[in-house]
Amino acid sequence: MNVQKLSSAVGAEISGITLSGNMPDDAVRDIRATWLEHGVVFFRDQHLSPGEFLAVARRFGAPVEYPFVSGIDGFPEIIEVKKLPHERVNFGGVWHTDTAYLDAPPMATMLLGRDIPPAGGDTMFASLAAAWDALSPAMQAMLRPLRAVNSSAKADVSKTREDRIKDSARDDARRRYDALHPVVRTHPETGRLGLYVNAGHTAHFEGMAEEESADLLAFLFRHCVKPEFTCRFRWQPGSLALWDNRACLHYPINDYHGHMRLMHRITLAGDVPA
Ligand code: SIN
Repeated sequence: MNVQKLSSAVGAEISGITLSGNMPDDAVRDIRATWLEHGVVFFRDQHLSPGEFLAVARRFGAPVEYPFVSGIDGFPEIIEVKKLPHERVNFGGVWHTDTAYLDAPPMATMLLGRDIPPAGGDTMFASLAAAWDALSPAMQAMLRPLRAVNSSAKADVSKTREDRIKDSARDDARRRYDALHPVVRTHPETGRLGLYVNAGHTAHFEGMAEEESADLLAFLFRHCVKPEFTCRFRWQPGSLALWDNRACLHYPINDYHGHMRLMHRITLAGDVPA
């Protein structure tokens, strides 16, 4: 197994391994250690059927269903992240960490490239630990005790689900979820501190109105995605990303109008942020 970093702060490409449900335990252990170190790991040429993809996911955690969109036939844990050639809005097209509006958001997400536009459709990632480390001690001290409400109903991100809700809605797709989480999260496995706010879902600080929270949140959203905390991944069919929702944000770039982009996504159960 070879590991090549994509940037200083986040992301590494792993080569020399074929993912499968019956990989040896030490391969899973090595991938997991690399993933914890880099926040997101990428693999190439993993042309897995849905059943094989699910079997790989089960080696890293417990797949869970996405609250708004139904899974593909026979695989409720696998959703399509899709933009059709005539559509203008891409799924999740705001910097975010997945389903942070749940009490126990997913630990990880796995995304497998199926149909990739000829150019564009890359995904960016940002390290929340690097963002935290770069703040001044005074700002860190101010943020440490704060908690924030994360909501599924923020307009910028909820509109990015609409096209899929039209064709693959779950019965409760109009439900709203809100969860209160610490603004500074301790990673349960690495022990690193990270900022745990995101433009997609974080609505306001606990006990403060949205208007009172807005300026500080806007600063934190900008700060978290400074170029030096990010990496950018170019997809091919069979590329697979495994990211740590406790440690990084992601942003799918919507620069491929007129082309299809289709990915399969599985999220893995996580714990309550602390
Ligand atoms: C997502 O937010 O899960 C989608 C990421 C992507 O399409 O690259």
